[in-house]
Amino acid sequence: MPLTVVVGGFFGDEGKGKISAYLALKDDVDMAVRTGSVNAGHTVVFNGKRYKLRLVPSAFVNERTRLLIGPGANINPEILINEIKSLNVENRIGIDPLCSIIEEKHIIEDRKSAFLSKKIGTTGQGVGPAIEDRVRRRAKLAKDLPELRPYITDVPLEINRALDEGKKVIIEGTQGLFLSLYYGTYPYVTSRDTSASGVCSEAGVGPKRVDHVIVVFKAYVTRVGGGPLTGELSMEEAMRRGWIERATVTGRVRRVAPFNITMARRAVMINSATQVAITKIDVLYPNAKGLREYDELPKEAKAFIETIEKQLGVPVTLIGTGEDVHDVIDRREELNISP
Ligand code: IMP
Ligand code: MG
Repeated sequence: MPLTVVVGGFFGDEGKGKISAYLALKDDVDMAVRTGSVNAGHTVVFNGKRYKLRLVPSAFVNERTRLLIGPGANINPEILINEIKSLNVENRIGIDPLCSIIEEKHIIEDRKSAFLSKKIGTTGQGVGPAIEDRVRRRAKLAKDLPELRPYITDVPLEINRALDEGKKVIIEGTQGLFLSLYYGTYPYVTSRDTSASGVCSEAGVGPKRVDHVIVVFKAYVTRVGGGPLTGELSMEEAMRRGWIERATVTGRVRRVAPFNITMARRAVMINSATQVAITKIDVLYPNAKGLREYDELPKEAKAFIETIEKQLGVPVTLIGTGEDVHDVIDRREELNISP
């Protein structure tokens, strides 16, 4: 019953989408479940094309993988249906009837509120206000929308059955631990729990079913919106280091800081990480670009990885070396970890 949960360890944008897509292909996973909402943008570069996903699991790159959206997710039906059609995944996607719905009024409220849009710096997608309505027990759910009817399925039942049959399942989290409503830098957080426990709860599987928890860190830290960022660099310094990025959903320039081991330790603890993935190592060490063998990494890059590994006490199994889904050093075999 191999169940893998992939979550972010910093403030989102660590490259969970790329890692999930790689695993979907490499391990030929049977099923992938997305949680969270449209505030998250997962970028996947596959076959020379760049996909910016909002709700469909990044595992769509494997045409055999069943794609599901768990009951804890919060969906914008228009964005979801467009994405389903443009990716041509109509025949293999399922949506839980209990997913909550973002309506136009939620988007207006998110953008109009100075507290949300200016102070917190939300993505303006209506996610927080929609979840407020869910908590007040007056939200619309996926089962209430005729246009979603063709996709409706019992997601927890599908996942648990697949696991009973020994199939491989991935749950894709969104954002990162420090944007969690519970464990993050409150009030500068998103409107839900982004930890591994939180995403399992959103998908509908209990903690005893999980085999692997992969916490994804980027080789440096980025943050969009308000809130503290330890060691934050000036824009000039970030530019000099080549660490400037733009947010997938909002286009905002991301704030940056060097890798933070204190935060990483906490993310490992709260998520009960069994493995760590480190992405964008090629941004720190350009001569690591596109490498797929650990032994070929420049020695400074290896030292960076091994120091982190020692300090976290968890194996770094996957290392991102470029944009393409296949630009990954996979050490699982060498470390005797089966998918
Ligand atoms: P909201 O999730 O749109 O309510 O925004 C709350 C905070 O979380 C803001 O600081 C956003 O920039 C941040 N945030 C939400 N989703 C993401 C994401 O996918 N990546 C990075 N930051 C995010
Ligand atoms: Mg993102």
